[in-house]
Amino acid sequence: MTYALIEQAKDVLRHNDRGTYTVPTDGLYPFQWNWDSCLSALGLSHLDEARAWTEIDTLFAHQWDDGMVPHIIFHTPNDSYFPGADVWRTGRDVPTTGITQPPVAGFCVKRLFDRCQDRDLARARARALVPQIHAWHEWFFRCRDPRGTGLVAILHPWESGRDNSVDWDAALDRVPTEGVEPFVRRDTQHANPAHRPTQKQYEQFMWLVQHFRDLGWDNSKLHDASPFQVVDPGFNAILIRSCSDLADLAQELGETEIAQKSRDFAARGAAALDGLWSAEHGQYVCFDRAVGELVDSPSIGGILAAFTDIPPQNALAIAARINLLAKEAKFMVPSHAPKAAEFDPLRYWRGPVWLIVNYMIADGMERAGQHEIVERIVSDSLRLIELGGFAEYYGPLDGEPCGGDRFTWTAAIVIEFLTRQKALA
Ligand code: DGY
Repeated sequence: MTYALIEQAKDVLRHNDRGTYTVPTDGLYPFQWNWDSCLSALGLSHLDEARAWTEIDTLFAHQWDDGMVPHIIFHTPNDSYFPGADVWRTGRDVPTTGITQPPVAGFCVKRLFDRCQDRDLARARARALVPQIHAWHEWFFRCRDPRGTGLVAILHPWESGRDNSVDWDAALDRVPTEGVEPFVRRDTQHANPAHRPTQKQYEQFMWLVQHFRDLGWDNSKLHDASPFQVVDPGFNAILIRSCSDLADLAQELGETEIAQKSRDFAARGAAALDGLWSAEHGQYVCFDRAVGELVDSPSIGGILAAFTDIPPQNALAIAARINLLAKEAKFMVPSHAPKAAEFDPLRYWRGPVWLIVNYMIADGMERAGQHEIVERIVSDSLRLIELGGFAEYYGPLDGEPCGGDRFTWTAAIVIEFLTRQKALA
C-alpha cells in the first residue's frame, strides 16, 4: 500500500518534470512556480538528488539583480495560462513575473542538505545557493520592510500563495478595478470556476499588476505605492524559518557573515511576530500595514506561523486550535475556520485543505513536541490522497478533490509523509 502510493506519487513527479524544472500541473499551471518548485524538490530528492538540486538551481538562475526571486518563470511560451509574460512585461530575457512568493528555499535547501546521500554534491550545490538565498532574504527586508519593523509585507495576494484568502478581503476593498485592461481568464477553463477566485478578485489582482508594471517593476517604489500591504504571519514565519535554517547551513559551510546576518533577521522577525498573536482566536492574525490594523480573520496563515519557533504557550494554543477545528471539519487543516461566516469549503484558500501547508504545520508542531497533532495531520493528509488522488487541494468537510489534478507538490508531500511513516515504523 505505502509502496504503491509512493510509486504513484513518483509517477506524478516524472509526468510534470520538464528536465530542469517541474510544472505544478499540466494546463492550469504550465510554467515554473517559485514555492512549488522548492517544495517539490523535497519529493524529487527521493528519486534523484541531483535533479532535486537542479530544480532549485533553475529557479535561482532567474533571480533579479536586486535579489528578488520571481513567482513564475515563463520558460517556454504557452497560452494556456493567464496572465502570461506579455502581460507582466518585466523585460527579462527569459520572462518572469514581477512579484515573489513565500521564501521556502532556505528551509528546503537545508533539508536537502541534512539528509543527502551524496555529501560532495550537496556541499557544492548548497555553497552556490546560500549567497543567492541570502540575497533574496536581504531583498525582502530592504524592499518589503522599508521602515525596519522586522516583518515583511506582501503587495499582491499572489505573493502569499493563498490568493483568495479571507485575510485579504478588507485590504482588497481598497484596490479598484477601474482601468483594468479587458482579459480572458484561463484558470476557469481548466478548473471548476466555483473552486477558484471570483471575477472581481481577478480584476483587483490585475489592477495591482498593471499598477506595478506602470512603476517599471522598481522595487524601491512598489511598497509605498501599493494600496495593498499586508503582513502575513504564515509568510513571515516561512521567511524567519528560512533565515534561521540558512544561518545554520551557512555556518556549516564557513559563511560566517551570512550566518550572522541571517540569525539577526530571524531574531528580529521572531520578536516582531509576537505582535500578531490573537488571544481571542488562539492563533496569529495578519496586520494590514496600509491602515495600521490587525485583521480579524482566523485563517490558516496564523496557524502556519507555527512553522517557525514560537513561544511554547503559543505552540500549545495552536495545537488546541487545531483540535478545535477537528471538531468542525473532517480533514485537517482547513484554510479557513469552518464556523466563520466567510468559510467556503471548496473555494481555493477560503476553506480547502492544502498538503504543503499541512506539511509545514506538522513540521512546526513536531519541533514543538505536539506529536498527536502531527499524527492527525499526517493521517488526514494521506486519507485525502487515498480518497481523491493527487489533487491541488481538498474539501475539508467531505474530502472532495479540487483544482488541478496530478499535482506536483501534493505528490512530493505524499512521498515526504510516507517516507517519514516508514522511518517511524
Ligand atoms: C494562479 O494563477 O492561480 C496562481 O496562484 C498565481 O500564482
